[in-house]
Amino acid sequence: MTSSSSTGCSTRKFSSQRTQIADVPVAELARQFGTPLYVYDGAQIARRVDDLASFDVVRYAQKACSNLAIVDLIRRLGCLVDAVSAGEIHRAFAAGYEATGDPPPIVYTADIFDHESLDLVVEHRIHPNLGSPDMIGQLAQRLSPERPNTASEITLRINPGFGHGHSQKTNTGGEQSKHGIWHEEVPDCLRQAQQHGLLVTGIHMHIGSGTDLKHLSQVCGALEKTALQVGPSVRSISAGGGLPTPYRESDEMIDIQAYFDLWNRTRKRLENQFKHPLSLEIEPGRYLTAESGYLVAEIRAIKSMGKNLFYLLDAGFNDLARPILYGSYHPMSVVPTDGARSDKNGGNKGRPTTDLQQVIVGGPLCESGDIFTQEEGGFVAHRELPRAEVGQLVVIECAGAYGNVMASNYNSKPLPAELLIHKGKTHLIRSRQTFEDLIQNETIPK
Ligand code: LLP
Repeated sequence: MTSSSSTGCSTRKFSSQRTQIADVPVAELARQFGTPLYVYDGAQIARRVDDLASFDVVRYAQKACSNLAIVDLIRRLGCLVDAVSAGEIHRAFAAGYEATGDPPPIVYTADIFDHESLDLVVEHRIHPNLGSPDMIGQLAQRLSPERPNTASEITLRINPGFGHGHSQKTNTGGEQSKHGIWHEEVPDCLRQAQQHGLLVTGIHMHIGSGTDLKHLSQVCGALEKTALQVGPSVRSISAGGGLPTPYRESDEMIDIQAYFDLWNRTRKRLENQFKHPLSLEIEPGRYLTAESGYLVAEIRAIKSMGKNLFYLLDAGFNDLARPILYGSYHPMSVVPTDGARSDKNGGNKGRPTTDLQQVIVGGPLCESGDIFTQEEGGFVAHRELPRAEVGQLVVIECAGAYGNVMASNYNSKPLPAELLIHKGKTHLIRSRQTFEDLIQNETIPK
């Protein structure tokens, strides 16, 4: 289904019918594990990791998909990891990452230290990438009694004064964003760090998620300027995440080579100034996992509302929140019931695709916004999908990033099961929650 490598301006084909995921029949997966069900294709993750091989460090933003098996797979593929919370630090440990090393295996990047994350960073010497000036003093206060004469290393996440994302909600730069240290406050932060005996060894910028090459390219100049302000203590620069992935056929794959070249030139200029090598990091989440993930659901009702025809699934925004949050578009396909032959990539060649109709696809929740085919602002959109019957399966595609990690128990719906298909084996990597799981921390007062 991918008509390209990641370099060059190529696009990706999506089919409205699918019989297989990673060579396994979808119907069989649904029969064995039930629906709704998240399925990840390990080979697709490996391909995307491969694309980024030119960068010195690929640091996975695990917030995109933090199932232990996925983080473990990404670790075995050679990536390091980013953690934004105490929970993500624990996950990184559980997936096999060491606390310390050069480059640091785990970096804690956040705009605050809550008490638990500060404890973990201090106790395990996790490398901190600070996104607020207040964090400098908070860290120093905890470190100095333990290591009075040692300069501890920090990196700074800088808000360069501009940002861009696929939605205003995922734009992390500029004055309206809470993220990072404002670029004009760098000199003051350097003074603070020096006073506290902290050494700034790196600069990091992440301007938003789901942005594009044009905006990403502007970061190089801003980062270079900041790194020069900091000076030769800088040994690493991080381009952040934000790499876009295709959700529609018209979306072009990002030209990774061109992006790397831009950063490499920036790195080289800084190396010339500082007279020592610099490590170039990238911090993708979506790019590594989005295309690997599929949400499989069953059509449980088909009904007309005046001129509109609805397919209602057993998955809702409790399972995949991106459409209701951002009006995000996900490709969708229907699994034919006739056992039709499929092509190698999961598209269906055996059944004509002419029997299509305009439908609205929604879920089971008691909330009108529980619609997968919607635009930003909640306006319902139509999708051309094959004619289908109750009991047929629908696959919501490109759901591997910010899919299951943003799932909730709204309407007392258990979290779905997750599967990883890798090297010809299907692994259950998270079992479906039970009703007992749902209420296990609740008590009725006596
Ligand atoms: N680094 C930092 C500091 C970040 O805040 C993020 C994402 C990333 C890296 C990874 O960004 P990516 O490569 O995945 O674009 N829930 C939203 C996305 C929120 C992203 C939050 N931060 C969505 O579903 O689109």
